[in-house]
Amino acid sequence: MATDAGDPLPRFPAGFLWGVSTSAHQIEGAAELRGPSVWDVFTAEPGRVKDGSTAAVACDHYHRYPEDVALLAGLGVNAYRFSVSWPRVASPGGLDFYDRLVDELCAAGVRPVPTLFHWDLPAHLDWLDRDTAARFADHVAAVAGRLGDRVTKWITLNEPAEHTLLGHALGAHAPGRRLLFDALPVAHHQLLAHGLAVRALRAAGARDIGIANSHGPTWPASADPDDVAAAGFYDTLLNRLFAEPVLLGGYPDGLGELMPGDVAADLRVIAEPLDWYGVNYYAPTRVGAPLGTRGEFGGVTIPAELPFSVREIEDRPLTDFGWPVVPEGLTELLCGFRDRYGDRLPPVVITENGCSYEGLDDQERIAYLDAHLRALHAALEAGVDVRGYFVWSLLDNFEWAEGYARRFGLVHVDFDTLERTPKASYRWFRDVLRAQG
Ligand code: FCB
Repeated sequence: MATDAGDPLPRFPAGFLWGVSTSAHQIEGAAELRGPSVWDVFTAEPGRVKDGSTAAVACDHYHRYPEDVALLAGLGVNAYRFSVSWPRVASPGGLDFYDRLVDELCAAGVRPVPTLFHWDLPAHLDWLDRDTAARFADHVAAVAGRLGDRVTKWITLNEPAEHTLLGHALGAHAPGRRLLFDALPVAHHQLLAHGLAVRALRAAGARDIGIANSHGPTWPASADPDDVAAAGFYDTLLNRLFAEPVLLGGYPDGLGELMPGDVAADLRVIAEPLDWYGVNYYAPTRVGAPLGTRGEFGGVTIPAELPFSVREIEDRPLTDFGWPVVPEGLTELLCGFRDRYGDRLPPVVITENGCSYEGLDDQERIAYLDAHLRALHAALEAGVDVRGYFVWSLLDNFEWAEGYARRFGLVHVDFDTLERTPKASYRWFRDVLRAQG
């Protein structure tokens, strides 16, 4: 990959948040000390996870968190995005763990930024039920009541789009349903849960609240009107369906008519003003008219009956996951959001960005992160109000349906011994942070 890595990065604004992200199910382990989540049920079913693994131990972060906080301190990040496991919080003593973690982070001078839901739904709950949104608000109130004296920055949900599409529409993630468009209520109930969570957090005194939505530019496969229309539809499903209820208080393209309940009243809850908007960016998607055949995309089977097909992005390096490396897609995305939503878009934080590569001398990861930081800076220069950047991820971890086969960490984890070894990218990012002051 062509890279400028080595040249100093441009300066980011004072007060910029520099962090790394993780999620509970992917790193914590200690599964016996909490209730089961939909992911425990899913991974127990043969054939669901590629290497047949589970997250029962994962990185054993539950027991090794002091070592991991020391790694964060050594890296020099000023913020750490992690998630609280809802089934752990609901288990006796479960909140004690996050209490200890937050204390450890504060003592190390790293700002805790918890995500309140990152896909590990308690196994007895179901996003097809509207009541799950109300249960989420109770969970949020419990967490805020316990941690709110030290946590000042909050994230409601992680990627409701992927949880809906992969988990409920295509069946590649837990809970493994293949409902296609009948999964739309799952999107609505998560968005409602988001709005109720914002209210619960505000009631607990929180003042700095965001969401982490996944977004990427959608590129039509050609100028053919059928390809352009299919790409527009995909853009609506991935980007607008999850951004517009939150930012504009409305569903795009009549999708609101397909949602359950009193949608107009719900949208007033969903559109509770946010202090910032989190974007997880990995790559653009190239989309064309349906080909009438089943497709494969990022390890996920795309059924033939969908009104679009996902095409390869050619002439680009691919990560080990097969995702194309397109740094300028981040600039395009952020400038596009600014143009689309204007002053309805609050300040943006990149809540995830990263790549899977093998090896300790991970020069490709350095090149990837370097190029994406330059692309992010280009968005700042173009006038987008960006306030922070979190690398996915601190540690190699349980990468959902891919098991332990995809390594996204700045720190290598040996999954037999659980030994942590910082990679070349860890030292590179530490030096970037030092240079940024
Ligand atoms: C995102 C997820 C995160 C991780 C990265 C690689 O979609 O939020 O948990 O799996 O992808």
